Amino acid sequence: MRPYSPGKPIDEVKRELGLSEVVKLASNENPYGPSPKALQAMQEALPHLNLYPDASQFDLKAAISRKFDIPSEHLIVSNGSDQIIHWLGEIFLGSPIDEVVTSTPSFQKYDGTALLADCVLKTIPLDAEHRHDIGGLINAITENTKLVFIANPNNPTGTIMKRQELDALIGRLPKGAAVVLDEAYHEFADFDADYPNGLDYVKAGMPVITLRTFSKAYGLAGIRLGYAFAPTEMVEALNRIREPFIVNNLALVGGIAALSDDEHLKRTVQGNAAERARLTEFLKEQGLQVIPSHANFVMVDLGQPSQPVFDALLREGYVTRPGTVLGMPNFMRISVGTADEMTGFFQAFARVLEQTKVHA
Ligand SMILES: Cc1ncc(COP(=O)(O)O)c(C=O)c1O
Repeated sequence: MRPYSPGKPIDEVKRELGLSEVVKLASNENPYGPSPKALQAMQEALPHLNLYPDASQFDLKAAISRKFDIPSEHLIVSNGSDQIIHWLGEIFLGSPIDEVVTSTPSFQKYDGTALLADCVLKTIPLDAEHRHDIGGLINAITENTKLVFIANPNNPTGTIMKRQELDALIGRLPKGAAVVLDEAYHEFADFDADYPNGLDYVKAGMPVITLRTFSKAYGLAGIRLGYAFAPTEMVEALNRIREPFIVNNLALVGGIAALSDDEHLKRTVQGNAAERARLTEFLKEQGLQVIPSHANFVMVDLGQPSQPVFDALLREGYVTRPGTVLGMPNFMRISVGTADEMTGFFQAFARVLEQTKVHA
């Protein structure tokens, strides 16, 4: 099993390169910061940190339940959706013939569930448009399949699986299996008729687990808070194995406040749409091919190994994600920043292109 390779932290880059200003466009975090309402709620909770958190997570679950109009029996919350991915492996996988099906490249954590359980991992390459290969995924499903992980939008490509494709995939699941629809970037997707909302599938009683997170659009990656909608029997199983105090006091109140902060969410989503369009346009103007993104990052084909471009950008104070660690060595994933961050990035990127001659 390869260890997870996270985006380089700002302080590390400052230390290593002696830079005073560093912009991180590497981990798809929210460039507008946490919701001010969440910050205030967390500040008010500070004096009570001597007490253990509410193990039932009653108020947070009630708030999520109200917001998405789904009974809290369908909800599991945790310190990040990463943790829920890990637990799903624990409750679904047990026998060496069990199979996990997923796409590649996709979010690396899915592979770990199969590798930890020592069962069969089937990774299906994305298609020529860098989308989930629905035919390949369906063909890979057998009677031993237990979990099918689909990131929608996909990380690192930002592409989506369409509603009809997801319906076909679910239709092929054997009894006892489930699709895990990872909607970490859900809030940034274009809600057209083609885009399936995982919540609808859970509400309809389908074998679907829909993962969401406070780490991206809600700007709370540092507090670690994620959740999932799932059939009640799966929630019961997850509740049996989870650590009781997995969500800390600050995350419990910060999550509730962030959910109520429509203004912050709107600013984030609108800012992302505007800057994602600008970033895409800029990269195309440099003669580069960009994968159309439904998320808060853009995957660009540099037409040459990404590592030297990554290194040169780092020296300019911009941390991006080289495709080398994402399974697409000639690509680079760039998180969408604020307008000012993007303007600075464009200048640095143009200089780096000149040095590395990627556009030649
Ligand atoms: C597709 C996908 N799923 C899950 C996560 C992890 O989210 P969390 O911070 O809730 O653990 C990420 C984070 O980058 C992601 O890209």
